[in-house]
Amino acid sequence: METSLPDSPTKTGSLWKGKAKDVTSAQDEFGDLNPIITYRHLLSQNLGVRDPLRVVALCDSDAFYAACEMVRLGVDKDTPLVVLQWDSIIAVNYPARKYGISRMDKKMDALKRCPHLKIVHVATYREGETEPGYWDEVDTNTHKVSLDYYRRESLKIAAMFREMLPGCEVEKASIDEAFIDFTKPVREIILQRYPHLAQPPPDAPFGVETALPPPPPIVWDGKGAVIPVNSPPSEDSSITDGQISSSSDEPGRAEPLDKDVVSTWHDVALSIGAELMTNARDAVHTTLGYSTSAGIARNKFLAKLTASYRKPNGQSILRNASIPNYLRPMPFQKIRFLGGKLGRAFAEEYDAATVGDLLSITLDEMQTKFGESSIWVYEILRGLDRSEVKDKGSTLNKSMLASKNLPKPITNVQEGYRWIRVLAAELALRLNDARNMSPNLWPKTLVLHARKGYESSRSKQAPFPYTREVTVDIIAAAGDKLWKELVGTSTQMNVTNVQLSFTGIDFAEAGQKTIEGFFKPTSKRQRDSAELTDFNTQAEVGQPESSAGDAKEDSATDIIVSHTCTRCKKTLSLNLELSRFKDSEEQKTAIAALIMEHDDWHFAQDLVREEIPIRPIQPSASTSHKKTPKTKKRRKDPVGIERFFDRK
Ligand code: CTP
Ligand code: CA
Ligand code: CA
Repeated sequence: METSLPDSPTKTGSLWKGKAKDVTSAQDEFGDLNPIITYRHLLSQNLGVRDPLRVVALCDSDAFYAACEMVRLGVDKDTPLVVLQWDSIIAVNYPARKYGISRMDKKMDALKRCPHLKIVHVATYREGETEPGYWDEVDTNTHKVSLDYYRRESLKIAAMFREMLPGCEVEKASIDEAFIDFTKPVREIILQRYPHLAQPPPDAPFGVETALPPPPPIVWDGKGAVIPVNSPPSEDSSITDGQISSSSDEPGRAEPLDKDVVSTWHDVALSIGAELMTNARDAVHTTLGYSTSAGIARNKFLAKLTASYRKPNGQSILRNASIPNYLRPMPFQKIRFLGGKLGRAFAEEYDAATVGDLLSITLDEMQTKFGESSIWVYEILRGLDRSEVKDKGSTLNKSMLASKNLPKPITNVQEGYRWIRVLAAELALRLNDARNMSPNLWPKTLVLHARKGYESSRSKQAPFPYTREVTVDIIAAAGDKLWKELVGTSTQMNVTNVQLSFTGIDFAEAGQKTIEGFFKPTSKRQRDSAELTDFNTQAEVGQPESSAGDAKEDSATDIIVSHTCTRCKKTLSLNLELSRFKDSEEQKTAIAALIMEHDDWHFAQDLVREEIPIRPIQPSASTSHKKTPKTKKRRKDPVGIERFFDRK
C-alpha cells in the first residue's frame, strides 16, 4: 500500500509524471535522478514505488539448466557441459561457451568444437513410466520432455532467497530469475548505522521535511560492478535478450569510480542492497551449488537490464546518476515488448534505433500517434517503471498443463491412450509436488486438447474428483474418457499436438482439509479394495437411515451421525469421540466431508473401472472448435499500442 505524498519540498512527484516538453538535460529526460531525500522519506514505511530510497534487484541463475545438471551429476565446475533436447542444445555452461558453443547449436556441431563436451539430455517421461528419467535412448516419438527437476531446483533457490532475506519481497519472475525488493531492510539498516537520522535535529528548518545531511563516503569495493556515470558502456558491450551483456571475463570487478559524481543517500541504499544480495547469492552458491548474477537499481526494469552487465557470477549496480548514459546508446528494439511490431513501428515512424534517438519525442506526440497507453513506452525509455515486486509464491497456480507436440501424429485411437498416460504422469507428479506444499489442493477440472497442425484445437473437459491420492491411473482413466468422447466414432485421425491440463485448481473445503482426522487411518490396500469396510470398523452409534443418501443428525445428546450410501448401501458413521466435535455444525461438516470422500472414492473407482461416463461440465464448453455463440460479445478492435500485440 502506498500513502499519497502531500506537497513537499521534494521533487519526487515529477519523476512519475514524465515531462513532455523542453527536453534539455538528463534530469528532464530521465526524471528526477537525484531527488531531495528528507527525514520523512527515510522514516516513512510505505512509500511504495514512489520511494526515493527504493532498491530492487533481479537475480538470474547462470546457464541454469546446465547448472542443474552439473549439480545433479556432481560435475567439476570447469567441465564444458550442454543440455540437449532431442538434437538441439537448450543450455550451455560457461566453460562450453568458451568453445563458441551456443544455444540452438546442433549436437554434432558442438562436438566438433569441443570433442570432450559433456552432453546431457534433459529428463523425459517414457511411455509406461510414472516418473521422468534420464534414459540411454530418447526419442521424441515416444518420450516427453520433463522440466520438473529444474522447476524443483528453481523453487529451492527462491526459498533460500526468502529465508536469507527477511523483510524483502521476493518475486519469482521465471524459472531462473527472481526480483527482490530490498527497500524495507535497507531502510532499517540505514537507521541502525546512522542512528542520528532517526529524527530531524532540533534546528532543522522544515522539521521532518528537511533534507537529510550529505551521505557518508561509500565503499563500493566488493559490492559489485558499479556501472559508470560518465563513460557509456564499453564498445564491446552488446544487448542480448533485452539486456546488456559485456564480454568482460572479470565478473564482479568494480568499475573505476566517477570521482566527480557526488554520492547520494540512494547510492547508500543501493550499496546496502548490494551487501544483502551478495550474502544471499553466496548462500545459494555454497548450499545449493548455483552461481547467479544480479542487477541492482531503483526499479524492476533497470534491475533486469543491469543483471547481465557482468555475467556469470557477477553483481552490478546502476546508480541513478548512471541511468542516462546507460540507457541512451541501447537499441530500443532489444527492450522487452519493444522487440516486435511495436518496436518496428517506432523505428520507422521516428527513424530511430537507440533509446537516445527517441528521447526527443514528446509524450503528446507519442500519444497522438500511438494512443494513450504509449505513456508506458515513454516512461520505459526514461528508465521509469512503477511496477511492484510482488511475492506470488502464496498465490495459487490455477492450472497445470502437460503438452506434447507429436512429430509422428496420432493416427488411431490406441495411440491417443498411450500419450494420455504419459501426460497423466506429468500432471500427477506436478500436482503431488504442489500438494507437498498445500496438501488439500484440488484440480476441479481435467481438460484434454487435441490439435491437428495449425488448426484450432478440439477439447473436452470434465469435473475431476477430489481424492487424497491422485495417481497416474486415476488421471489417465479420466483422460481416456475424454479422449474417447473427443474421438467419437472416428477411426482415423491426425493429431499433432495433445495437451492434458488441470484447471480450476483450488484449496478443497475446510471439511476436506480435516477429513483425515475424522476416521481412523486407512491403509492403501483397504482403500483400493472394492469393499469399503474401513469407515465402519469403529463402534457405530447411529443406525442406517431409511432415506438412503440423506445425512441425518439425531437430536439425542449422544451425537448420532450416519449416512447410507445410495450406491453401495454402506452406512457411513463417524467415529464419535465426543470431545472432537464442539457443536452440531462441526458434526455436520464432518459427515459432509465423510460423504464427499466416500462419493469421490466411488468416482475414482468407477474411473479406473470405466463404469461411468464423464460428461463435460457445460455442453458449450466441450468443443472449442465450435463457432462462437451469437450471444458472445464481439471483442473491440484494438487501439493504440494494443494493435501491435497479438491477441491470445
Ligand atoms: N531456456 C530455454 N529456451 C529459451 C530460453 C531459455 O530452454 N529460449 C532455458 C535455458 O535452458 C536456460 C533457462 O531457460 O538454462 C534460463 O534461461 P536464460 O536465463 O535465458 O539462460 P541461461 O541458460 O540461464 O544462461 P545465462 O547464464 O545467460 O542466464
Ligand atoms: Ca539465466
Ligand atoms: Ca533468465
